[in-house]
Amino acid sequence: MKTFNIAVIAGDGIGKEVVPEGMRVLEAAGRRFNFQMHWHAFNWSCETYVQTGKMMPEDGLRQLAPFSAIFLGAVGHPSVPDHVSLWGLLIPIRRTFRQYVNLRPVRLFDGIESPLKNWKPGQIDFTIVRENNEGEYSNIGGRLYEGTADEMAVQQTVFTRRGVNRVLRFAFELARKRKKHLTSATKSNGIIHTMPFWDECFHNLAADYPDVRTDQYHIDILTAHFVRHPDWFDVVVGSNLFGDILSDLGPAVVGSIGIAPSANLNPENEYPSMFEPVHGSAPPFAGKNIANPIGAISTAAMMLEHLGFAKESERINQAVLEAVRQKKTTADIGGSLGTKESAEWIAYNV
Ligand code: NAI
Ligand code: MG
Repeated sequence: MKTFNIAVIAGDGIGKEVVPEGMRVLEAAGRRFNFQMHWHAFNWSCETYVQTGKMMPEDGLRQLAPFSAIFLGAVGHPSVPDHVSLWGLLIPIRRTFRQYVNLRPVRLFDGIESPLKNWKPGQIDFTIVRENNEGEYSNIGGRLYEGTADEMAVQQTVFTRRGVNRVLRFAFELARKRKKHLTSATKSNGIIHTMPFWDECFHNLAADYPDVRTDQYHIDILTAHFVRHPDWFDVVVGSNLFGDILSDLGPAVVGSIGIAPSANLNPENEYPSMFEPVHGSAPPFAGKNIANPIGAISTAAMMLEHLGFAKESERINQAVLEAVRQKKTTADIGGSLGTKESAEWIAYNV
């Protein structure tokens, strides 16, 4: 029987409730399809930070490196500034393990009311590929003349040929497996050095993929198209900042953030990839058994696919679709079940 060693970081708030439900569903799938998950839990979180002053131990990354994958809930708590939790845990994992692709599927489910009118399931089905290691989110920069009238702040954006090409290539390959259409987010009219460089790399690579139809939009009008024409898209690729914004907007146009999954991939498998729902720790929802577990369950399905069990992963996705259709879900998407009960229904129906 195939066995996987998975590092689990449930984190804070509802992360601690939805992660065990994702595990429940994978265990159910494993019993049915003959694989086994060995979980190794790490209690790294804002709670740990308050006690120890660190989001993870000094050798945290070394501890994670041997695992087949990392399954993460959410980190964040009002007692700890968000940049501390992000730069103390998530960003070091994403960067050290070269998880340069952040993948976020966006699909309109039967049974979920989209805030957009008149769209039917099947009409909205695209995937966002966000550059996850460089770009606008760099720690190069600083402040001068702090606290004076002359104070200034500089933050550098970093685009490397290697970094841009590898994420674009991933997006082209993905488009090739889907509807063969790739859209690039740019802003080369306003950001005159890095964005024309991004566009150049995109055009150069497009020559290698004559079977993939390409287009590009400036990020401002692209956000409008996400709302007005969500059916235009198949794979959408963007830099770290643009991809971040699009990947919250995408799930928002198809309904609840509570059902959106994501993956941080190291496509070459030199290091473990990390899988986490799009939502955060939602402190007001924590401890009430009301958080939607589907984001975490669909994330677990993405992890299973990455581990080579694509067919089995699809079975989980089907069970999720069925739960949503029959409203065997939490209240945020129209059901009346608790977190645990909704996940139990899905686990039973995998
Ligand atoms: P959030 O995603 O935690 O919550 C925003 C709202 O979305 C909630 O109030 C709720 O209405 C809804 N929501 C989120 N998840 C849900 C679920 N599973 N079921 C039903 N409804 C759900 O975002 P927020 O409030 O901006 O951030 C809270 C904390 O989480 C912050 O500390 C933030 O930094 C952190 N965060 C962490 C992330 C991560 O670990 N990757 C991602 C986003 C936020
Ligand atoms: Mg975000």
